[in-house]
Amino acid sequence: MITKKQKNVLEFIKKFQQKEAMSPSLEEIKNKFGLASVSTASYYVEKLETKGFLKKDNKQHRGISVFENESMVKIPLLGIIAAGEPIQAIENREEIALPKSRIKNYDNVYALRVSGDSMVEENIQDGDVVIIKETKTPINGDKVVALIDGDNATLKTFYREKNRILLKPANKKYDPIIIDKNRKLEIQGVMVDIVKQSFNNLTDIKFTEKTPNKKTNIPLNKVICGDCVSVMKTMPDNSVDMVVTSPPYDDVRNYNGFSFNLHDTGKEIFRILKEGGIVAMVIQDQTKNFGKSLTSFRTIVDWVDNIGFKLFETVIYRKHGTEGAWWTKRFRVDHEYMPIFIKGERPAYFNKENLKIPSKHGGKVMTGSGNRRTDGTTTKTITRPINLTKCRGTIWDYLNAGDKNPLKRKHPAVFPDQIPVDFIECFCPPKGVVLDPFVGSGSTLVAAKKLSRNYIGIDISKEYCDLTEERLKKDTPTTLFE
Ligand SMILES: C[S@@+](CC[C@H](N)C(=O)[O-])C[C@H]1O[C@@H](n2cnc3c(N)ncnc32)[C@H](O)[C@@H]1O
Repeated sequence: MITKKQKNVLEFIKKFQQKEAMSPSLEEIKNKFGLASVSTASYYVEKLETKGFLKKDNKQHRGISVFENESMVKIPLLGIIAAGEPIQAIENREEIALPKSRIKNYDNVYALRVSGDSMVEENIQDGDVVIIKETKTPINGDKVVALIDGDNATLKTFYREKNRILLKPANKKYDPIIIDKNRKLEIQGVMVDIVKQSFNNLTDIKFTEKTPNKKTNIPLNKVICGDCVSVMKTMPDNSVDMVVTSPPYDDVRNYNGFSFNLHDTGKEIFRILKEGGIVAMVIQDQTKNFGKSLTSFRTIVDWVDNIGFKLFETVIYRKHGTEGAWWTKRFRVDHEYMPIFIKGERPAYFNKENLKIPSKHGGKVMTGSGNRRTDGTTTKTITRPINLTKCRGTIWDYLNAGDKNPLKRKHPAVFPDQIPVDFIECFCPPKGVVLDPFVGSGSTLVAAKKLSRNYIGIDISKEYCDLTEERLKKDTPTTLFE
């Protein structure tokens, strides 16, 4: 039921809780067992959760609760249920174990693994396991397993109306399924619990070994249309040198109504990045009713605390050209955040030569009084020539996000091409691989191609994938007469 290593981790968590009256953080578990990263500690905790020994609240820094001497109940995992387009439930008997206290009555209860994204706004994601209680009489608002026209089973929210039944998805992308008297509908059960995908799909890993890599394809110099998490799942571990991206955040733009999950995105990026690989992200927070959403800060903390990245720096991207004199309720926001994450201890490649800026007194010889030491004394006064250029600071100015490029205008939320140019030159080795999982109009790929790096772009929108292909042709001509 439980491996020796998992048992050791569980014992450590219990003892820590007894002694400190709080749970250990993932960092503390990592340090205790000399694990390679916080994500390895996270694997152990998740595995123990799957087996029902504890519960982890991902929003809490120390959110582990151990189930003391809890007896477990096994329930059958009957197959896959579609949360996108209806598909047939598959008979494929396995069992999952849940603590007895989790559900009031385990009679006539079974589990199904979710496939698809039509319930994501209810936090039911592709790969999650839903626990279903058999019943034929749901009430409005229940999430039901519905068998439509005799052979298609789907998970949706049930609403009975005057002459029809609505099976509502929780994703703006999909329309409700309307069942009138001419269609056949059988309710097979209602959802009573959910086991999140991150907690039920893990393999045992050994303390010193890396998880085996079964995937072998790295789609170099391609634009792939699809959900970035699903696409990255097909890519091998440790295969990408750097990621430059601007994810969609909050509800600022609807694009084509697509959804995304920044935690799962971070997890997959972490897996496919090489050791020392870098993620440079451009992100802001939505302002609503005088308050900021905090998505940027939350993502940074989540990626560091729960996924295992190190935060190298957060650079401020200062945008020019936002007039907005009509904004009466807030400041004119003229910046975004650019957190830079490292996988591992230090960047594998770091060359900031091209990022240097002119020194104000470059070329002069100047005498300066010494710097103050921590004990209050000063170092000696020195006279020296001032270099023409100096290291760039942490506020980077860019003039025009759209680069006055008519192709880029076809996308509502682009960043300037110079941003990926700066990051790639600084952090991606020559001929390295750059990925943008939210490629949009293709700014990152155009920069990578111009700098002779390999690129991979992913976007869920076909329209934007086509736009990226078009830009790769037109904005990076390979002959003079293209
Ligand atoms: C902020 S834009 C990126 C713009 C890009 N940096 C540029 O300069 O053109 C975010 C993109 O993410 C895409 N997107 C949204 N959800 C996605 C998902 N789950 N997987 C892949 N792409 C997604 C949207 O279609 C949109 O094009």
